[in-house]
Amino acid sequence: MKILVAYYSNTGNTERVAKAIADALASEELELLLVKDVNPSTLGSYDLVILGSGIYASKVHVSITKMMKAVESFPPKFAFFCTHASDNMYQDGFKAVMRVIKKTDSSIVGEFDCMGENLGMPKEQQLKMLEGLPPEQRKKAEDHQKKLKGRPNEEDLENAKKFARTLI
Ligand SMILES: Cc1cc2nc3c(=O)[nH]c(=O)nc-3n(C[C@H](O)[C@H](O)[C@H](O)COP(=O)(O)O)c2cc1C
Repeated sequence: MKILVAYYSNTGNTERVAKAIADALASEELELLLVKDVNPSTLGSYDLVILGSGIYASKVHVSITKMMKAVESFPPKFAFFCTHASDNMYQDGFKAVMRVIKKTDSSIVGEFDCMGENLGMPKEQQLKMLEGLPPEQRKKAEDHQKKLKGRPNEEDLENAKKFARTLI
């Protein structure tokens, strides 16, 4: 199978998942590219395109949506993956991308997500934010931060590999 794994990653979490997926599919004819390096006119030459992104303000990065809007010939299959810090503000991340795909004959054959520690906000700013919260909310936020620490972890990366193997 000719496969493209294309991703956007601001702080490296999604990149680690992308590399795990690429590792799991190493026996295929695979290319691993940053979205900014993808030529949209080549997408139709792949059997499967796997798109990945962190989630920013509930959406995948705009470079992915932009790239998808420039595609003329589509591959038969797409799959998605994302990393996110929230328990609930990520499910619609690929909505705009799906809107593009739904107008084509391509199908979406799989989706994967896992938590990704929010490394985009400086520690001092995070502490300041926590200090401003009432005690109960602060405890909740601190517990959530503990849950995020070091994610994606080895288990997340193993799960990403398992997901990748289901696609071929
Ligand atoms: C500016 C900004 C906005 C974010 N918005 C969301 C969000 O809406 N929902 C969410 O679940 N995570 C959000 N996150 C957390 C990231 O999605 C998460 O840390 C992800 O793993 C980052 O991936 P990356 O390291 O590949 O960039 C946000 C992070 C930043 C820096």
